[in-house]
Amino acid sequence: MRIASEKVEKLPPYLFAEIDRIKKRLIDQGHDVISLGIGDPDQPTPPHIVAAGQQALANSHYHRYPLGQGNLLFRKAIASYYQRYDGVSLDPEEEICVLIGSKEGIAHLPLSLLNPGDVCLVPEPGYPVYHIGTMLAGATSYFLPLTEANNFLPDFSVVPSAVLDRTRLVWLNYPNNPTSVLAPAEYLNEVISFCRKRNIIIAYDAAYHEIYFDSRPVSFLSLPGAKEIGVEFHSLSKSYNMTGWRVGWVCGNREIIKTLGKLKENIDSGTFEALQIAGTVALSGSQTCLEELRACYRRRRDLFASCLESIGWSSRLPQGTFYYWVKVPSGQSVSVVKELLEKAKVVATPGVGFGPSGEGFVRFSLTLPEERLREAIERMVKVWKKK
Ligand SMILES: Cc1ncc(COP(=O)(O)O)c(C=O)c1O
Repeated sequence: MRIASEKVEKLPPYLFAEIDRIKKRLIDQGHDVISLGIGDPDQPTPPHIVAAGQQALANSHYHRYPLGQGNLLFRKAIASYYQRYDGVSLDPEEEICVLIGSKEGIAHLPLSLLNPGDVCLVPEPGYPVYHIGTMLAGATSYFLPLTEANNFLPDFSVVPSAVLDRTRLVWLNYPNNPTSVLAPAEYLNEVISFCRKRNIIIAYDAAYHEIYFDSRPVSFLSLPGAKEIGVEFHSLSKSYNMTGWRVGWVCGNREIIKTLGKLKENIDSGTFEALQIAGTVALSGSQTCLEELRACYRRRRDLFASCLESIGWSSRLPQGTFYYWVKVPSGQSVSVVKELLEKAKVVATPGVGFGPSGEGFVRFSLTLPEERLREAIERMVKVWKKK
């Protein structure tokens, strides 16, 4: 009996099965393995947000189907957050739709916009869901390499015009996972004017917007013309250590929001309203927790930078996110990750797992307390400094 559909059959296999096997063997043998693999914040959600969630959870008013584009209080809080911090005006009624984490909307957007035969431009290395969503919609991904040579900003001039003629959607993500760079306003302005001329929708993934070190990332929706052709995905996950809560949103162009909303209405019944109330408090309350979070990731980044320097793995200092995108001096990214695991008992992610242009790089996620990070660094220095 056939079980899986052709589309599910086509889903890429799990690339890191062998690394997971080695990790499990080492743990079974009693080794202390330090994981800098997955990008999941280690710190708790700030207490004032948890308290708001607890209170809302006890309120039976929020126990029914949420439905619609999200709780209006939360949408108003999102709109005023955009106004206050990035000078962006949004209509909470029609230009914002609450998501079950931004991943859910990212996966569903191509299904709501693309037909078979349409092309979606997908940066690689990149968050795998852009391509998976496109594939599940029966459309075609055309990959845009992010390389050191192009400062990890996609070069649209390499796309053949026959492909551009079929292109309806492009994904951009800054601060970028996995390369940890920001995008300058001039670059984004050029992309907006290019896409407006070509009638290409821009889907901007701003999941890491609040995790930066020197300058605040450019707000895509604050740029002229962005809202005419684009939407932005954002989330509470990384800003407030709320990955498990599953609260995100999409905002921007009302027609695109309406189209995605129409699809979602037929697939899910929204995000638990108690969580949206907690989200309202997160966005409207004191943002000191964000400053503390950035200071913490900065300390970890600088600590890790000194480690890389002492083992001679030269790399660009991350501008945002909690990832370190490290160029390895030699060898394939999978073999370096295996060596890291076997010799230092440290887990990292091979760059090639994010796309072929990630070959030669390894991603470290700095989502562990400083003492664990120090331990990982000491082990890496012990193994590689001698070389
Ligand atoms: C680039 C990027 N976008 C979106 C997401 C999804 O985040 P969430 O669904 O928790 O909002 C992630 C999660 O790791 C990510 O790395």
